[in-house]
Amino acid sequence: MTVIVTGGAGFIGSNFVLDWTAASDETIVNLDKLTYAGNLENLVSLDGNPQHIFVKGDIGDRELLDRLLTQYRPRAILNFAAESHVDRSIQGPGEFIQTNILGTFHLLESVRAHWTALPPEARAHFRFLQVSTDEVFGSLGPTDPTFTENHPYQPNSPYAASKAASDHLVRSYHHTYGLPVLTTHCSNNYGPYHFPEKLIPLVIVNALGGKPLPVYGDGQQIRDWLYVKDHCSAIRRVLEGGTPGATYNMGGHNEKPNLEIVQIICDLLNALRPRADGKPYQDQIMHVTDRPGHDQRYAIDATHIAQSLGWTPAETFESGIRKTVQWYLDHPAWVANVLSGSYRDWITRHYGGRA
Ligand code: NAD
Ligand code: TYD
Repeated sequence: MTVIVTGGAGFIGSNFVLDWTAASDETIVNLDKLTYAGNLENLVSLDGNPQHIFVKGDIGDRELLDRLLTQYRPRAILNFAAESHVDRSIQGPGEFIQTNILGTFHLLESVRAHWTALPPEARAHFRFLQVSTDEVFGSLGPTDPTFTENHPYQPNSPYAASKAASDHLVRSYHHTYGLPVLTTHCSNNYGPYHFPEKLIPLVIVNALGGKPLPVYGDGQQIRDWLYVKDHCSAIRRVLEGGTPGATYNMGGHNEKPNLEIVQIICDLLNALRPRADGKPYQDQIMHVTDRPGHDQRYAIDATHIAQSLGWTPAETFESGIRKTVQWYLDHPAWVANVLSGSYRDWITRHYGGRA
């Protein structure tokens, strides 16, 4: 049996591929365009492992998709591929429309053609899993109830709007054509291999590099943080047991304001890697101009996945953030290659001399 993941060289996708190969014998085909966010160094431990097949390509490339589906006849497709950074979507939304909306559309079209031609039993067991976000639901006030699966879509950033559009396409392929789809809405992730443009890895890397720790506005915006390995286990659970057409919210029960996150990271670094001058990393915190249209609060009600599929997170924020900070301390070469941009030459450096 085989599954195809898209975006498996990114932060969550590469954690998913690593966990998948550790937990099962099933082949995983990994289709990734290797944008700035794709990093094959994340998957170096799978080098030479025939269970993982990497294909460089775009989810918008119909010809390639058709070929992969015919060649590998997967039982499932998991769509992680996306432009994922809100700040980049504010600077330039074009790529977000291209990949998140049009790319998902082409992927769905290719999958629909493949699925329609399958024999009845394979059709019934086939799954298309869309990895979505809580950001499609918009922003909560301080005392509003947390997002359930029935919360209306109210996306506020071009990123969130493009994810919302792709979710709607996925939903329509189930409603109209009967494609067996599953959609997951997860809160903010953190953990190993997180690209240091997002808050948590940026703060760790900047702190260690002696740089400012930029906090947008007053830092009182709230996110609900989930350790990435818990997100991966939730996706595996939904793939195994989820009901086609259903959606599943996933969160860590870890609502925290950004400034508190930054303080926690500083405290951990003060203990694990004290500054040479003995001063606290907190001295590097710098409040900067707020993000335009900044969502105030995201928070997930994960009751449905807990009750219907028995999934709950394994990590608390305390255990997960400690592991994450330690991971960055233990992987200076990964950080250095990302900061210098040399991770993008990985294929040449790694495979250059090979047949
Ligand atoms: P990421 O930006 O780290 O990785 C995205 C990956 O997709 C990269 O490897 C990139 O090369 C690849 N990609 C981009 N465009 C592509 C295209 N056209 N064709 C093929 N591959 C392409 O993102 P991430 O943080 O790992 O997020 C993965 C998914 O999870 C996204 O769909 C995102 O919306 C969703 N999500 C992320 C979070 C989070 O906190 N990071 C939370 C909830 C949901
Ligand atoms: P981010 O990691 O970009 O995720 P998202 O915007 O998808 O939630 O940001 C998390 C929070 O941290 C968000 O409220 C914006 C804030 N933030 C900062 O305060 N400073 C920063 O440098 C970054 C990147 C984010």
